[in-house]
Formats: sequence, structure tokens, C-alpha cells
Amino acid sequence: MAPIVFCWILTSAALDPIKLEFGARTFVLCDSMYSSQGKLIIAMNQNSQYQHAFALGCWLLFCAAVVYVMVVVGGITRLTQSGLSMVEWDPIMGIIPPIGEAAWLEVFDKYKQSPEYIKINAGMSLEGFKSIFYWEYGHRVLGRVIGLIYFIPLMYFLLRGMVPKQWYARLFGLFVLGGLQGLMGWYMVKSGLVDVPHVSQYRLTAHLGLALIIFGCMLWYAMDFLRGERMARHASSGYMLLTWLAVAVVFLMMLSGGFVAGTKAGFIINTFPTMNGQWIPAGLMTVEPGWRNLFENPVMVQFVHRCMAVIVTAVILVSFYLSTKQRFRTLNSLALLALLVQISLGISALVMRVPVSLGAAHQAGAVALFAAVLYAAHRARKVRN
Ligand code: HEM
Repeated sequence: MAPIVFCWILTSAALDPIKLEFGARTFVLCDSMYSSQGKLIIAMNQNSQYQHAFALGCWLLFCAAVVYVMVVVGGITRLTQSGLSMVEWDPIMGIIPPIGEAAWLEVFDKYKQSPEYIKINAGMSLEGFKSIFYWEYGHRVLGRVIGLIYFIPLMYFLLRGMVPKQWYARLFGLFVLGGLQGLMGWYMVKSGLVDVPHVSQYRLTAHLGLALIIFGCMLWYAMDFLRGERMARHASSGYMLLTWLAVAVVFLMMLSGGFVAGTKAGFIINTFPTMNGQWIPAGLMTVEPGWRNLFENPVMVQFVHRCMAVIVTAVILVSFYLSTKQRFRTLNSLALLALLVQISLGISALVMRVPVSLGAAHQAGAVALFAAVLYAAHRARKVRN
């Protein structure tokens, strides 16, 4: 039933403007947009412009959703210790999994020569190897799938002249970023294929950060196409800056999470709210020079992650408080809810020594929170003339 209604709305919107009235508010699904008083704000030349923007927006939203899944699969790959199971990278042929016993034994033999097998997984069975291999393989295949679902429709939209010229650089730029992300992933894996089978936390965080930038751009562009500048609500400059601050602190918080994950800092102190009974734990400055503690000393890394959670909470709470006066309350309630869920997941993951399910949920929750603050920032942005 729901798909039929959805198709009906889309088809009729394409053929004829739909005007929905809710009390004093008027919503229009068509080539013209009306203000809440029903006053015509903008009229597009043709329905086709609206349809093109709608199609581009849906495509980008879908791509962002698949990138979301990709980030979560990446988190599970790391949490299940599967990330170093494929010791080679073949961008084209790598899509074909081992078929048959002989092919499996061949890839397993290659893995057996890797430092991870020798130092950590010696004696692992072929079945055990298959279970870790499939996560890493799935992560890589999904990366290629994203490339295809991005590139093929992009070409189609371009050939049909559906993409406005000022969007070319942004949309191709995103494709290039996707390619760089693939390279970054391999650069990260390579850091663990050495004597010490441990992926560099710097490269892990760079890989996570680039994934977030790609996700954020896709979501933002999708909202640009779907909501359009005509739909932006005017907000005060102060509030607008606050929504950007929320985006920035959540992004930094996620990078800090990358360092927690990369240094395995979630496994060393597992008490909350204090760290082994202390608010400021011992052993914060054990590495020289001092700044390296922020990225390489697990005690400091976990401490920073906790402190940053306080900052993120403060920024989102202030946005929520201010939004009561700005008509943006629903959006900020969404961000606040995502934050509460995320903090609960973080604390649970910590005190339970990071089981795969909670670690993955915490990763998924972080991206959901990022999406929520981006949405709030998009709605608050100024309309360009
Ligand atoms: C604003 C809220 C938070 C955000 C956006 C956030 C984000 C993240 C991210 C992105 C990761 C990396 C996950 C991965 O790479 O797999 C992470 C890891 C982690 N976070 Fe948070 N976090 C938040 C709050 C907290 C809190 C309050 C705690 C607990 C006190 C916490 C504990 C952890 C732990 C233990 C890990 C390591 C998990 C692992 O080893 O996989 N987080 N966080």
C-alpha cells in the first residue's frame, strides 16, 4: 500500500502541482513553492527542473545511505579483527572471491605468511579464516558497489543534461574522494602487514574521517537538491554558527573515537564515570614529546574522548535551548536524542569491554548523530541570493 501511495504522489507531483494544506501552512510538491502563508516564493520554469533536482537528491541520499552501511561494516571488520585477512589489493579482480577448495587454500597460505597469522592467529583453521575473510571482502566489495552506484547514475544524469553546470566540480570531486578513500583503505591495511600486526591509528582515523567527509557531502548535496534553497528557514547568525559548531565538534569527536579504536583505548580502563576511581587518571603523560600522548597514549586518548563528550553535549544542549525560540526545535530534539543514544552506547561499550555488537552500534550511532547535526545546520543556513 505504502509504495503505491508514494508512487502516486510522485507521479502526480510530476504532472501537476500538489498543494497540501495543514491549518495555516501550505506545502507544495511541484514546480512552485509557497511560504507558510501561502504566498508564492519561487516558480520554476518547468516541472522538469524540479524532477531533475528530485532525482539527483534521491540518488545522493541513497548513496549516502550505502556509505553509512559501509562505515558500519568497516567498524565490524575492525571489531572482529578481520581487517588484515586479505594481504593483497587488486582493484579489478579483487571482486571475485576464492571459488573452490584450492583457491581458498591459496589465499589462506598467503595469509599464513602475514605477521598477524604468525604472531596472533597461528593455528587458525580454514573455517576460522573464512569468517574473518568475508568481513574484509564484504567491506571491499561494498566500496566498489558504491563506486558503481555513484558513477553510473552520474553519467546518466550528465548525458541527459540533468546536472546544473555549477554542480559538475562538486559531483566529480566526490567521485575522486571516493577513489582516494579506496587508496587510503589499502594504505591503512598496509600499516598492519608489517612486523607488528597493528593498524596505525593515524591511518585508521584518516580513513574514518574521509568516509565522514564523503558521507557528509553526499547528505548535504542531497538536502540541497531535495529541499532547495527556497525551503531554507532564516535563522539568526548566532544560531547558524552554533549549528556549525555542533557539526565541527561531532566530527572531531568521531575522529577522537577513531583514535580510541586505533589505540584499543576502550580496553584499558572500563569504569564509568571515573577512570579506575579517579576523575583525572594517572598515566596521562607517559609518551615524549607531550603532544603524542593525545594520539598514542591510550589513557590520554580515552580521557580526551570522555572530555569531548562533555563538550559535544554542552553544544547540542545550548542549540536545543536556543531552538525553542527559533522554530527549529524538532531538529534539535532529533540531535539530542541521537546524542543520548550515542552516549549510552559509548558507556555500555566501555564498561562491557567493547563487544562487537556494542562497538558497531556505537559506530552507527555516531554517524546518525553526525547526520542529525548536519540536517540541523542545513535547515539553519542562510539562503544565497
Ligand atoms: C558524542 C558522543 C560520542 C561520539 C560521536 C562517539 C564516537 C565514536 C567513534 C566514531 C568511535 C570509533 C568507532 C570505531 O572506529 O569503531 C568511538 C569509539 C569509542 N567510543 Fe565513542 N563517541 C561518543 C561518546 C562516547 C562516550 C560517552 C564513551 C564512554 C565513556 C565512548 C566510548 C567509546 C569507546 C570505548 C570506543 C572504542 C570502541 C572500539 O574499540 O571499537 N564514546 N566513539
